[in-house]
Amino acid sequence: MTSSIEHLAGILPDGATANAAGHLVVGGCDLVALAESYGTPLYVYDEATVRARARAFRDALRGYPGRSTVCYAAKAYCAPWLLRIMAEEGLALDVVSGGELHTAAVAGFAPERISFHGNNKTDDELEMALRLRVGRVIVDNVEEIGRLADRADAAGVRQGVLLRVNPGVTAQTHAYLQTGAVDTKFGFSPDAVGGAVKAVLARAALVLWGLHAHIGSQIGEIEPYAAAVERLFALAQEIAKLGVDVREISPGGGYAARYRPSDPPADGPAMAGEVARMVAESSRRHGFARPPDLAIEPGRAVVATAGIALYRVGSVKEIRGVRTYVAVDGGMADNIRPTAYGAEYTALLAGRAAAPAEQSVAIAGRYCESGDVLIREVRLPRPRHGEILAIPVSGAYHLSMASNYNLVPRPAVVVVRDGSSRLVRRRETYDALLSAEV
Ligand code: LLP
Repeated sequence: MTSSIEHLAGILPDGATANAAGHLVVGGCDLVALAESYGTPLYVYDEATVRARARAFRDALRGYPGRSTVCYAAKAYCAPWLLRIMAEEGLALDVVSGGELHTAAVAGFAPERISFHGNNKTDDELEMALRLRVGRVIVDNVEEIGRLADRADAAGVRQGVLLRVNPGVTAQTHAYLQTGAVDTKFGFSPDAVGGAVKAVLARAALVLWGLHAHIGSQIGEIEPYAAAVERLFALAQEIAKLGVDVREISPGGGYAARYRPSDPPADGPAMAGEVARMVAESSRRHGFARPPDLAIEPGRAVVATAGIALYRVGSVKEIRGVRTYVAVDGGMADNIRPTAYGAEYTALLAGRAAAPAEQSVAIAGRYCESGDVLIREVRLPRPRHGEILAIPVSGAYHLSMASNYNLVPRPAVVVVRDGSSRLVRRRETYDALLSAEV
């Protein structure tokens, strides 16, 4: 890697470099050439980085003394090509909707390796999960226990479930990304767990395997996981009194990614290894004869760094003494994260990856909102109209949250590997935008 992009190691996909022309190269492909042939905005995923992260999570749990599973949280990005890779790498899957479940089915994902989450699954979705025979439904509320059991009875299926519990842990992250604090819409609060267990035990169609918690997302510290694991085992011990043998524990996902050189280093697999040690230790301390099966659910940390967004620069507008706005052909509809969470990114010019930075600019999106600014401040060589701007760490929660705001078609997606590229998702057409209109 040439010196000027060295500081982006761990932010760019693995093995990213600059070629003799000074162009950014990912997966052996020149990103300027990719933008030329596929158009922009373009999302590029590096297959080797996806596989390396998936494997690193599997490897991180190898020391766990019981059975362990890494469930990829599909909400981070869900597409058939990606789910096939996850299956090949030995990961299981966490889905949260009929749409994700359908995608998993289309990808041929083994249904018994799918967990179905959600705080308000519809009747249709529950029926679909039963029909497809998913391995686990993570039940979130009392109403769902009844609705699921009724349908399982009707379908003649015994459905494995985990109870989602709210551990009452406030993780250090954006308030919108906290899911395990006392005040949350997700899961059973500790005082409701006993009643939920009784409700499940009363239904022969449901098999209670254990407990699940998810404390939030983009979490860089291990302490909240320690607190959540401790709470899960305390609850497990309590419900043992009701005759429940907790055979599975799932402390969720949430491992942070590093988005900018100034962000603290992030090592999701290392954190997951730490969580596995805490689970093993807690299970001993709480008198478990053998450690329960462990499932973790990383989403972002598996795919974020593998993805890079390419945009074409339109205008460069200087407001003297205030700011220079570099407008690109994408924005909040393909990446809502800066607008929704104040998320911060870095950028580079794909055609001048090794050139020294000359000025601070803002990267503005193309959508009709003042809040559509992808980056408030980044130092770049002075961008010119027509150049390709690359925003790294775009692999998670961009396309999965993308919209057609302003009726702009969503970007194309290519996967790069060993110097070749393949289109995995076409750029939407104007007709596709209207295809559901009656
Ligand atoms: N498991 C459950 C039950 C979850 O709700 C989530 C994420 C995950 C696992 C995966 O979390 P991860 O490892 O990706 O942090 N749109 C937001 C993130 C929302 C996360 C929602 N739940 C963002 O762009 O930051």
